[in-house]
Amino acid sequence: MTAQERLQQGFTVWLTGLSGAGKSTIARTLSAELERRGYCVDVLDGDEVRTHLSKGLGFSREDRDTNIARIAFVASLLVRHGAAVITAAISPYAEARAEARARIGNFVEVYVRCSLDELVRRDVKGLYLKALSGEIQHFTGVSDPYEEPRDPEVVVDTERESVEQSVSKVVGTLEARGYVAAQRRVTA
Ligand code: ADX
Repeated sequence: MTAQERLQQGFTVWLTGLSGAGKSTIARTLSAELERRGYCVDVLDGDEVRTHLSKGLGFSREDRDTNIARIAFVASLLVRHGAAVITAAISPYAEARAEARARIGNFVEVYVRCSLDELVRRDVKGLYLKALSGEIQHFTGVSDPYEEPRDPEVVVDTERESVEQSVSKVVGTLEARGYVAAQRRVTA
């Protein structure tokens, strides 16, 4: 495959990480940057998917796997039509992520990392407090597993990096792999 053909191909940036780690924020900022560069972008955000495509699913392993398989299926269709797809679901199980990778093909896995201490401190949705007190059960990272990616294409650390730094790491990888055309850097 020539570099030119590859540039016209769709791809998926698969963001994985704990609730509140910053997946949706990175997805939005990355989406804006890719749109600015002329790409056709679709964001499949876990919270939104669960109000439409996965309405009624819970948080058992089976339901989470179903949720992830649905997201991967839709992403694979969009990628086939040349879209830049960004997914933002916890996707806690390595096997489900590997299946998504195999189904989609052009796959860039991004581990959005943040310590539990910091997530509890942020607690944007107030869910960690409820999970720690037992009011919510099977909460990922507290009382349900999160299998860290072993070999992701990118790791971003939202405790130490700004959103812009994290997004620019992802864009750098997309450029290096030929999914996105590299931009000439203008120096003053
Ligand atoms: S996934 O495991 O199937 O990938 P998904 O990203 O769609 O999860 O949804 C996670 C969101 O659901 C969290 O950000 C949080 O707002 C909410 N949520 C509610 N209950 C749970 C739970 N038990 N574990 C994790 N997230 C939960």
